[in-house]
Amino acid sequence: PRRVRVQHLRDAKEAGRRLTMLTAYDAATARIFDASGVDMLLVGDSMGDNMLGHATTIPVTMDELIPAVRAVSRVARRALVVADLPFGSYEASPQQAHAAAVRMLKEGGANAVKLEGGRRIAAHVELLTGAGIPVVGHLGLTPQAENILGGKRVQGRGSDAADALLADAVALAEAGAVAIVLEMIPEQLAQRVTDRLAIPTIGIGAGGACDGQVLVWLDMAGMTDWSPRFARQFGDVGAALAQATGAYISAVHDGTFPGPEHTYQS
Ligand code: KIV
Ligand code: NA
Repeated sequence: PRRVRVQHLRDAKEAGRRLTMLTAYDAATARIFDASGVDMLLVGDSMGDNMLGHATTIPVTMDELIPAVRAVSRVARRALVVADLPFGSYEASPQQAHAAAVRMLKEGGANAVKLEGGRRIAAHVELLTGAGIPVVGHLGLTPQAENILGGKRVQGRGSDAADALLADAVALAEAGAVAIVLEMIPEQLAQRVTDRLAIPTIGIGAGGACDGQVLVWLDMAGMTDWSPRFARQFGDVGAALAQATGAYISAVHDGTFPGPEHTYQS
């Protein structure tokens, strides 16, 4: 299959073809998502709460993310691999962002990086883009800032907040961003941003007007007992896994596994 490249994102928007992105944190799932035809695999810092047992994304480090990026990049044949820059790895300066992003490409094998923030990090985006590193933006609810935002709540409500978010989106696009994730904002604002920009918007809790959608794979597949209102469970993989595990335990207990077909003779 032909590799998805950053140019295809803009082409898809022009053609009105909706884009799909899913998170992935390991080779086993990335292989399945890639073969299923998802356009972008995001090695998100949501690995913190979804895979590492943390309560938030804040504690996630570069040293934790890089092996996951590497695993996903090794098996992705078609999807564009986007690596999140974790909290504390990029905010202080464009130079700090460059150092972190270079590691994601050189050590991780990522095709692009994602940073949270708007005008505040426009200079970072410009430096990375100039250095050959495609950047995906992330506006609205930016989980790394949840201590400032006061939790996971809808952002961009009211005309001042909406205007500010639109200005952030325009600044990121002008700085060279190849796409922007819009998280937990009203659909009317997502529509405005989407209409205004030539680059695609990828929504999560931002309604159907975005040029694409992203979900955390565990929410998408039904791997959690709770997921946010904006997520839909497209499968019941958690229940299937529990069922398989129970069947395995029973078979060992009752001696029906291993059978002769699983057993070697001298
Ligand atoms: O880390 C992540 O999974 C994300 C998506 C929710 C956009 O940033
Ligand atoms: Na993230």
